Amino acid sequence: MRLTLVGTGYVGLVAAVCFAKLGHEVIAVDREPVIRGLKENKLTVWEPQLEPELADVYANGLLRFETDIVQASSDTDALMIAVGTPTRSDGHTDLGHIHEVLSHLMQAGTCPPLVIIKSTVPVGTCDELEATLLAAGLHTEVAFNPEFLRQGSAFNDFMEPDRIVFGCQTPQAESLLRQLYEGIEAPVHVCDRRSAELIKYASNAFLAMKISFANMMSDVCEGYGADIRHVMSGVGADQRIGPEFLSAGVGYGGSCFSKDLQSLLTTGKLIGSPLPILESVAKVNNQRIPRMIAKLISLWGNPSGKRLCVLGISFKPNTNDVRDAPFLTLLAQCERHGIEVQAFDPVVRQVGAKSVQLMDSPYAAAAQADAVMIMTEWPQFAELDWPYLLHLMRRPYVLDGRNLLPSPIISQIVDIDGAIYMPVGRPMERSPIPWAGVSSPE
Ligand code: UDX
Repeated sequence: MRLTLVGTGYVGLVAAVCFAKLGHEVIAVDREPVIRGLKENKLTVWEPQLEPELADVYANGLLRFETDIVQASSDTDALMIAVGTPTRSDGHTDLGHIHEVLSHLMQAGTCPPLVIIKSTVPVGTCDELEATLLAAGLHTEVAFNPEFLRQGSAFNDFMEPDRIVFGCQTPQAESLLRQLYEGIEAPVHVCDRRSAELIKYASNAFLAMKISFANMMSDVCEGYGADIRHVMSGVGADQRIGPEFLSAGVGYGGSCFSKDLQSLLTTGKLIGSPLPILESVAKVNNQRIPRMIAKLISLWGNPSGKRLCVLGISFKPNTNDVRDAPFLTLLAQCERHGIEVQAFDPVVRQVGAKSVQLMDSPYAAAAQADAVMIMTEWPQFAELDWPYLLHLMRRPYVLDGRNLLPSPIISQIVDIDGAIYMPVGRPMERSPIPWAGVSSPE
């Protein structure tokens, strides 16, 4: 099949490469500077496997890059749109980029027979887009085909999904969509467009709810001296609940969960149906960083002038994405409390905030710090020389915001005089010998 795909953000680019790998002729369209970078294999997103796979399909001629939407979609079977749909400050979804794409086609008076929306859009959007095209004299079906890609494993998620969802109106559209995904083995869920639009939002909202539930229970565990890991593995063993997305920590981040939750809340309000469960999901998440700050204050007393070493900046491991990262909230709150931040991340090289010093190594970030906080569960943080790292600090306090460190490391930590290990939703561990004052690193 010939597919034109507009938008080469992380979803669009992964989709373009994967559809090309499935044997389709794909033209990816974006603005000039982005396309120039892509032609030189310079990617703006960091996703495992993406670079070599892209180089491969580009070299084979299965994937091409263009900047002119009208030209690129003049001789294609379907046009897929994977542009950003950010949430505006009033909670409504900004569909400006999608409208911009369609306006090019309407001006040219031409459109492929099928437009597939991959961007996440509020319920009813595809109906409206199709009506807009029709009003401009274009008889095109608009279908909805959501993505469920996680950053860091987007490739596998695309090629081996749990399910594929098609929201479409006619057998012709369904048949084109099935051809597009031929070669991928997964149950296909075909339904009307509005239901498909809601599947995407409800899935993300449900996952966010699982995380907030685990975080809420972790507070109860802390109060009663229980261990959230045991509680959630016992709960998740029930097949009706499932074990995933029950890890307590510093809260969820990333470009999807908060945005989609907000959008769904607005959707509910528009029809007079508030969604109280989801309001609480967001509220619980918003309390995670204040709780981490409260923990620091419980250790330090006055936080002003203290230095915090933060390990991990991206919203999760295996990505350099800092959108909505809990780190950014932490940074803002540290600034308010007069806490100095030295941070290290294996791949993030800039944050766009002055109030943080980005360091080249975890050890440099730990220099003279009054506590270290793990914000992202990069596995390499568990491999650090923790006794050495603590030796570089002013106070040997470890706040493990992701429950990352294994027992042998925790034992090494609390072997150090005055050390405290504070996980999430589990009892704190501390050295039997109290902290004796500022250590003097060699
Ligand atoms: C998510 C959805 O999983 C994906 O289906 C959708 O298409 C896009 O949004 P992504 O944002 O890449 O994907 O990350 P995900 O792995 O879902 O994690 C989101 C956030 O939740 C991260 O900050 C992560 O650290 C946090 N999280 C996840 C937890 O705090 N606990 C968990 O148990 C799982």
